[in-house]
Amino acid sequence: MANDGKVYIIGAGPGDPELLTLKAKRIIDDADVIIYADSLVPVEIADFAKPGARVYGSKEMSLPEIMDVTLRAAAEGKTVARIQSGDPSLYGATLEQMRIMEAEGVDYEIIPGVSAAFAAAAVLKAELTVPEVSQTVIMTRAEGRVAMPEGEDLVSLARHGSTLVIFLSVTRMFRIANQLQEAGYPADTPVAVAYRVGWPDQQIIRGTLTDIAQKVRDAKITLQALIIVGKAVDPNLLDPNAGEQVAVSHLYSNEYTHLYRRAGQGSHADADRADLYEAGGYEVQPEPASAGDN
Ligand SMILES: C[S@@+](CC[C@H](N)C(=O)[O-])C[C@H]1O[C@@H](n2cnc3c(N)ncnc32)[C@H](O)[C@@H]1O
Repeated sequence: MANDGKVYIIGAGPGDPELLTLKAKRIIDDADVIIYADSLVPVEIADFAKPGARVYGSKEMSLPEIMDVTLRAAAEGKTVARIQSGDPSLYGATLEQMRIMEAEGVDYEIIPGVSAAFAAAAVLKAELTVPEVSQTVIMTRAEGRVAMPEGEDLVSLARHGSTLVIFLSVTRMFRIANQLQEAGYPADTPVAVAYRVGWPDQQIIRGTLTDIAQKVRDAKITLQALIIVGKAVDPNLLDPNAGEQVAVSHLYSNEYTHLYRRAGQGSHADADRADLYEAGGYEVQPEPASAGDN
């Protein structure tokens, strides 16, 4: 095969077409062939296709069928936009597609997207990494048809007590709530279930480990939902009257010196206290080229 074309595996975000990146939009606009995951990607995104582009919904296609369309188009020198939900690196079944393209010598590129995890956090107005509450986010799923690798079962992961973002598992809400409590999460741990974030019928259900499963059952939610567990999704954290119960990030504190700013002063590009900057939980950036860059 000549394979002069190019394949883009594109993260389309959670559903809202406005959460497409500019790059994703440009590639979709120009693509000759579009294969989009029509169970999780709205048709409005496929509708950006130029006139004459061939558009396929992948929901009812098998991997060999998807790859057959993809490889033929690439061999004809065409541009293929394979559009997937959220970010393709999370539960995107991209590895098997990439291996086939590697074997066939097809030029391909991944375009990242907004994962439903981050779109859900935005809708919840939650910071998933609140100082002294949780500095770790575990993205996982409950065991179902797919077995979990050793040490990644929910009970083991739950021992960390961190913020948990659980994909593909809302049908197992009762079992998950029980397992998390057995593993040490207090019964009153806040939980949010975000259903079809970014779609017109989006729903957010909030509760605790004791009542969330029944609320989800009552709402008849059985798919396309994320479960986020942990104190970081406690809506009370937003309460301005909650006082000093929550530690705040040092990054913007006036008393805190870091790489770009000295305590009690304005910006200082020459402040090289990288150790303090790191202690605030922020990655140290390369030294600015010259003073005043920030
Ligand atoms: C096959 S995975 C794809 C995840 C995707 N790659 C991402 O980064 O969001 C599908 C699961 O992601 C979650 N999901 C995807 N889109 C969602 C949305 N709009 N709202 C809530 N959850 C969503 C659900 O847990 C769903 O079962």
